[in-house]
Amino acid sequence: MRVGVLASGRGSNLQALIDAGGNANFPAEVVLVLSDKKNAYALERASMAGIRARHLAPKEEGFYRKVGDEIENHGIELVCCAGFMRILPPEFVSRFSGRIINIHPSLLPSFPGLHAQKKALDAGVRVTGCTVHFVDEGVDTGPIILQAAVPILPRDDEGTLSERILAYEHRIYPLAVRLIAEGNVRCIDGIVQFSENAFPGHKGFISPVSE
Ligand code: GRF
Repeated sequence: MRVGVLASGRGSNLQALIDAGGNANFPAEVVLVLSDKKNAYALERASMAGIRARHLAPKEEGFYRKVGDEIENHGIELVCCAGFMRILPPEFVSRFSGRIINIHPSLLPSFPGLHAQKKALDAGVRVTGCTVHFVDEGVDTGPIILQAAVPILPRDDEGTLSERILAYEHRIYPLAVRLIAEGNVRCIDGIVQFSENAFPGHKGFISPVSE
């Protein structure tokens, strides 16, 4: 499956997807990276990996049309937002309906939007995490594909918590792409369903004492 990534910043999730694609058994490959920020490190990561990388200026007219044309011209089958700091307009979302996913650093629907890790700390929750979801017209509201739970530890601050969550982002984003590329993901009435036996059973955990 041909994957295009939209990124605005350091691109560590992009890197996780690039690295996963380096495995011969992985059924998807990043072939295009687009950024709204000229100096995004994500563009450099793409170039270093020999992937087509392009900056498009968001202030120019027809920005989303150009982004969409690049995606179509490169035969992209799945668009992954990875730290893309813009809300996609409805016309873009419907142009690639059901083919755009995003990663967010909280257990959605809790703490959508910016500074999700700080919002979790401020709310005093014991468990937060990260979510991969399909993108719809809302802000971090689309159907949930995968989540990883991360405990909040007594001395956590925004930095330590973000770092711990990020490690799980790097695990679940490639996994979600794999499941989609293998055809194991369906969305029915806004709820994601997996093919039978896509996952073995898992135990839960209690935070802050893990079993
Ligand atoms: C990640 O925390 C992601 O969940 C959020 O923005 C951050 C991007 O980090 N949407 P990176 O650019 O992938 O390193």
